[in-house]
Amino acid sequence: MKADPAPLPKILVLVSGSGTNLQALIDAGRERDFPGQITAVGSNRPGAFALERAAQANIETFVVDHKGFDSREEFDAALMAEIRRHNPDLIVLAGFMRILTTDFVRTFRGKMLNIHPSLLPKYTGLNTHQRAIEAGDDIHGVSVHFVTEELDGGPVIAQAEVQVAPDDTPESLAEKVQEKEHILYPIVIRWFCEGRIQLGSDYILFDGDILKAPMRLPDN
Ligand code: GRF
Repeated sequence: MKADPAPLPKILVLVSGSGTNLQALIDAGRERDFPGQITAVGSNRPGAFALERAAQANIETFVVDHKGFDSREEFDAALMAEIRRHNPDLIVLAGFMRILTTDFVRTFRGKMLNIHPSLLPKYTGLNTHQRAIEAGDDIHGVSVHFVTEELDGGPVIAQAEVQVAPDDTPESLAEKVQEKEHILYPIVIRWFCEGRIQLGSDYILFDGDILKAPMRLPDN
């Protein structure tokens, strides 16, 4: 008799908006050898289109509406309770537009990833495409990093670059960056689920070695 295969790592995705990254992950998850399973999608916005994408894919969803709480601490506690209920191995922030408390971030240290639309450490926070254009950058891009207490400041696992054209607008640049996001995030999540990346005190182990610089997605 064949032994049952080991259960796949459980992925919980947090979203606030349209969910194109969630969709890329759902699509990747349909590949036969994908080493993880999206078991839940949570949102702080009841109307987020990402929730519909999850429902279409028969993934359980939940909403913890931040408007229903008086403080960030109370919201985070409610969100944490929902997350615990699903007991995920990995939390993926995919356009989740809430700043999380230190307590929350510490609880899930080493198990939570974020995707940020810039080549970190450049341009933490918002309006990254606009800021790259204003700075006259000719290269811009996207980073996937572990979430730590510092906003958009956790160790970076991987990046992908895009060229900034002279006539790029924040919108056209966002489109180029998103195309890369949809390739990069599933790759990094695959690595995590395969147990290839771990967060140390302030470094990343990749296949057991300290990662000296973020992994780069080849140009094409
Ligand atoms: C992406 O640009 C991502 O880099 C940022 O939020 C956006 C989410 O987009 N963190 P979507 O909801 O996945 O389409």
